[in-house]
Amino acid sequence: MSDRKATLTIDGIDEPLDLAIYDGTLGPSVIDVGKLVSKGVFTYDPGFVSTAACESTITFIDGGKGILLHGGYPIEQLAEKSSYLEVCYLLLHGELPSAQQKAEFESVIRNHTMVNDQVSVFFRGFRRDAHPMAIMCGVVGALSAFYHDATDISDSLHREISAHRLIAKMPTLAAMTYKYTKGQPFMYPRNDLNYAENFLYMMFGNPCEEYKVSPVLSRAMDRIFLLHADHEQNASTSTVRMAGSTGANPFACISAGIAALWGPSHGGANEAVLAMLTEIGDVSRIDEFVARAKDKDDPFRLMGFGHRVYKNFDPRALVMKQTADEVLGELGLKDDPLLAIAQRLEQIALEDEYFIEKKLYPNVDFYSGLILKAIGIPISMFTVIFALGRTVGWISHWNEMISNSYRIARPRQLYIGPVKRDYVELDERE
Ligand code: CMC
Repeated sequence: MSDRKATLTIDGIDEPLDLAIYDGTLGPSVIDVGKLVSKGVFTYDPGFVSTAACESTITFIDGGKGILLHGGYPIEQLAEKSSYLEVCYLLLHGELPSAQQKAEFESVIRNHTMVNDQVSVFFRGFRRDAHPMAIMCGVVGALSAFYHDATDISDSLHREISAHRLIAKMPTLAAMTYKYTKGQPFMYPRNDLNYAENFLYMMFGNPCEEYKVSPVLSRAMDRIFLLHADHEQNASTSTVRMAGSTGANPFACISAGIAALWGPSHGGANEAVLAMLTEIGDVSRIDEFVARAKDKDDPFRLMGFGHRVYKNFDPRALVMKQTADEVLGELGLKDDPLLAIAQRLEQIALEDEYFIEKKLYPNVDFYSGLILKAIGIPISMFTVIFALGRTVGWISHWNEMISNSYRIARPRQLYIGPVKRDYVELDERE
């Protein structure tokens, strides 16, 4: 708690109200408005623009300066020096692992990659042309029916086992989803491969021939998982926390997070970016699309631009752009026409008064799709990849909440509906 306090004077209430101010280690302080309800008023902040909903030690973002820290470590350093599983450990435990902890953690994850065989039967209830995210919402939620042995959320060991299971099984489920929509047989995980290699093997291997995983692609895949690992209290993470605040089991909560991620304003944007670049089709049509994005009467937005928190640049987008350059270069795909459109679009938008004034910069989703496309991931799987990478963030926040004192999340409202009135009989209604 800080020595500072905020004093609020409310018309119609005699005494000014002193509200405590809490300081974090970084970032804006918060004003504790919890006791306002006792004075008969609520705060009003649609979209939670100025509202901190919890305390957290996991991730820090300074949107004005373009800073993203996990456990205090800058994302640029993690992307360059670390690996996805090491970042998973960092998010779950708050510290980088020692060599022994790293080896043990990787071994635990490797040894949980298989899913109960009955899960494959569950898949068969879906249409083959179902959107992969629709399947993911269902199968991840269904895990609670398969792993009910460890869903006592008050037991820290159960919570840890669930976290390991989720991180380990998401690549298996994601790849099964892809295989199912392709009509190909599911591939069992191979525990001699690392996390990203195993995912690519399950996606692109088949039982008829040997599949050699390209080191260029597995490095790129690992980088993409890492860049999506966590992003503090975004819409899907807040959804997971909200579902978790009711005491729901972790698999159900992560399924809720997947559903929230699917929307085009959030994780669904990576799919939408590629669709947009494909629709633009040629550099000569960029001006037309930029004009549409600026037109108040046109709902079209430049997908992959803008962010609620970043008002300078998204540091993940910078690393993603570099990765796109490297990967497309290494694969000899530098002449990809969509890359040319993306680069030109970025340049035009960044010089445009509308985008400058509204502080709209490319976000993480702008370049990730180009890398995923180069790896061979179909567009409809892009948001699934985001979900896979973000699972560790969701489960870390869920675990942080359950480990500390928490209450059911129950926002209030400004009611603007009809005042009390008497029921009107059917034959008396107009
Ligand atoms: N293209 C054109 N105009 C835009 C865009 C865009 N991409 N984004 C925001 N604006 C305008 C918007 O019309 C509004 O203008 P005005 O003030 O004149 O009404 C202003 O900028 C502020 O926009 P907002 O919608 O109030 O901002 P927000 O913080 O509520 O929304 C956002 C943030 C990310 C949803 C939004 O920028 C957007 O829809 N971007 C495109 C979708 C996208 O790329 N999403 C991925 C986000 S990053 C990864 C993730 O979170 O999953």
